[in-house]
Parts: sequence; C-alpha cells; structure tokens
Amino acid sequence: MNQRFGPGLRLRGSLVPPADKSISHRAAIIGAMASEPVQISNYLQAQDTLSTLRAVQAVGAIVEHREGEVMIRGCGMRNAQAPLDPIDVGNAGTLMRLLPGWLAFQQGADFTLDGDESIRRRPVDRIVEPLIAMGARITARDGRYAPFTIHGTALNGIDYELPVASAQVKSCVLLAGMATRRTSVLEPVPSRDHTERMLLGAGATVSREAVGTGARTTIGSADELELEAVTVPADMSSAAFMIAAGIITGGSRLVLEGVGVNWTRTGFIRIAQRMGAVVVCDLEPVGSFAAGEPTCDLDVTAGPIEATTVEADEVPLAIDELPLVALLGCFAEGETVVRGAQELRVKESDRIATVVEGLLGLGADIEAFEDGFAVRGTGGLRGGRLEAHGDHRLAMLGAVAGLASEEGVEVVGMEAAEVSYPGFADDIAGLAS
Ligand code: S3P
Repeated sequence: MNQRFGPGLRLRGSLVPPADKSISHRAAIIGAMASEPVQISNYLQAQDTLSTLRAVQAVGAIVEHREGEVMIRGCGMRNAQAPLDPIDVGNAGTLMRLLPGWLAFQQGADFTLDGDESIRRRPVDRIVEPLIAMGARITARDGRYAPFTIHGTALNGIDYELPVASAQVKSCVLLAGMATRRTSVLEPVPSRDHTERMLLGAGATVSREAVGTGARTTIGSADELELEAVTVPADMSSAAFMIAAGIITGGSRLVLEGVGVNWTRTGFIRIAQRMGAVVVCDLEPVGSFAAGEPTCDLDVTAGPIEATTVEADEVPLAIDELPLVALLGCFAEGETVVRGAQELRVKESDRIATVVEGLLGLGADIEAFEDGFAVRGTGGLRGGRLEAHGDHRLAMLGAVAGLASEEGVEVVGMEAAEVSYPGFADDIAGLAS
C-alpha cells in the first residue's frame, strides 16, 4: 500500500503511543514460563507481538486475549510441549532470539522455528553459539538461519562474553541460564534490560555489575517463576517517530503520555536534547512504574537543531531510533555522524543501506559507512518516494520525513508499520493541522 504524507503539516495535541514491543514480547514469554496465571494489561496488539502469543500457545500455554488485556496460563519452566508444526515467528526477531533460550532446556522435546522472508535473512548464530556452549542441541539452515530446530536437553552454565551488545542475545542466554546453576553474560556496553527487570520481579536471582564501559549480568537457577500482573508502558521506540516529527515540523507542540523511560531505552532523547531539541520529560512522582519500568509524559516543541556525533557506546541505547537521528541530521546545522552501528545491517532490513538510499531519494546529503552514516544538514528535505522494504521503522521514517518536506513523501509499502505501530497513519492524521 502506498501512502502520501505532508507536506507542510504541524502536529499539535497529546497522544498515548502504542504499548512497548520489547516488554510485550517478554511478558508473553516469561508469562508462559510461569507456574501461575499472569495478567498483562496494555499488551501490544501488533503483528510481532501477536506472533509471540501464537508461539507460546503453540508450545502449550493457554492465552485469553481481548483488546490488549491478556491472560496467560503458562506451562511452567520445564513443561513446554513440542508442537506438530513449525512455530511461525512472522517478522519478529526478538521472538526468534528469546524463545529458544527457554525451549533449549525442554528435555526430550523438539521445536522448529521459522518466519517470513526477512526473518530467514537474519542470523541466529549469535544465539546458537552460546546455547551450544551451554550444551544445547540446535540445527540451523546453513548453520545460521531460520528455519532451525532445537532439540531440548539439559544445559550447563557459562560465562559468555558478547562480541557486540545485544539485548536479544543477552536475554536468550539469561532465560537458558535459569536451567543452570549460574550463568553470566558480559556486554561491551549496556543494552536494554527489560528481561532482567521482569525476571527479578518474577522471583529469579539476577544481578548486574559494571565492568569497564560494559556490564556483567548473572543469573542463578530457578525452578519456578511467578509474575505479578504486568502493565506495559507506551513504547519509546514508537514515540520516537512522533518526537522527531514534533521537532522538525515547524509550529508543532505535542505531549506523548505514559512513555517507558527506562534509561537503557532513552538514548534517542539524550541525542535529540544534545542537538538542541526541546523535549521535556515530566517524571510522575507516584505510580510511574509499570512492569518495573519508569514512565513519563514527554513534551516536545519544534525548534532549530544542531548536528551531533553518536559513538558506539550510545548505539545500543538508541539502536532502533538511529534512522531518526539520520532524519534529524537533514534538518540540523552541521554534519551529524553515527559510528559503531554495524548492527543496523541485520535488522528488519539493512538499515544503513535502506535509510541512506531512502533519504538520498528525498534530497538528503547523506553517505553510508560500513558501521553508520554521515549526513550534512541542508535545512530541509525536498521529498519524493521512499520504499519501506518491508521494514516498519523505514515506513514510519518516510512518513515523518514527508510531514516536514517541501513536496511531501509517498511511502511505498506503508502497511509494514503494522509490525509495531498499528494505527500510525491515523495517529499522525489526528495530530496534524
Ligand atoms: C530488542 C533489542 C534490539 C532491538 C530490537 C528489540 C529487544 O536488538 O533492535 O528491535 O527487544 O531485545 P539487539 O539488542 O539484538 O540489537
């Protein structure tokens, strides 16, 4: 589906962005591992997280779902059932990389995971390697791609050093680590810690220590998890599209309510503020924690911005928002540079290639590096057509670019936004004036 956005629209008003995708995935998976029923409120109803509900159902959890209110009656830690058919993860990389951490220790049961075309291009060796070091038995297509099969078995603990910070890989190893006496994961720089927070809340023994620029997370064995009711906060990564739109479309002022502001997710806010953007965070004193996660209202006002540089240590804290840093760079004074972000190449699309190509097509002065990009601000964007390449964040990037461009942007494949943000175009229309 092609859809046109802009030009010349400003955004005014307040909005509650959709529920957090990362936290919804975790609530469903950890809920399925729990022994008692878990109630999840404000569960994200988008393609990716609906794939997760179907996946946990396929391995034996009972799921009742009505408009974001989800009740999961789990299988318990060691009682996932082998399904007859492959588990379809759809487009969801987080599901594909987290679920195997649990399935790997379901002794005597086999599970095959498969997904869409994009998922089949994304590597799973990054989880297969540590899981095999723990004693897991996994066979993957060409050793590194879906479909892959996990033959559940007993696991042993490891001290794993992640070559590149990744919350998905860390989470997988920690889930598997609960079937061992003790397992630790060392990251070169910290990544999002939603799994640790939720497991702690569910009674697991989890600790973290700073090691140089990074962090070591250690988990002990757990026979049982009990998760209290979870309320999922609004997703910072979805809010970020509205934040960027509010900054670059002249005359805009918007408030985004109840957004999760766990510091491991707010890198984009810090980057935007450093560029001079007016993004104010109202931390609510009471009741501001949902699922062990702080939330706040974000107040965004349009204004001039300056270029900045983003280095490797900031990358995991803003990984999904880096395409928006490129867009802000088009409107900033000076040259904005992102380095150390080679992980972008293995997202839903090769996001260095697709973002650079996409923005070039709209008139940006941008170049790609192996591990990032540099964009020279020209004070605006001409507009044109942008191909989403089936990548939800690229589709929304094109839409936001269109609002602030001279000629508007036609996004080719806008339906991709449904993966994380159903109703995105309607939310834009509701705020535009
Ligand atoms: C996610 C972690 C990130 C991010 C993805 C969601 C998660 O991936 O890009 O959209 O929920 O753990 P990596 O941490 O593997 O880079």
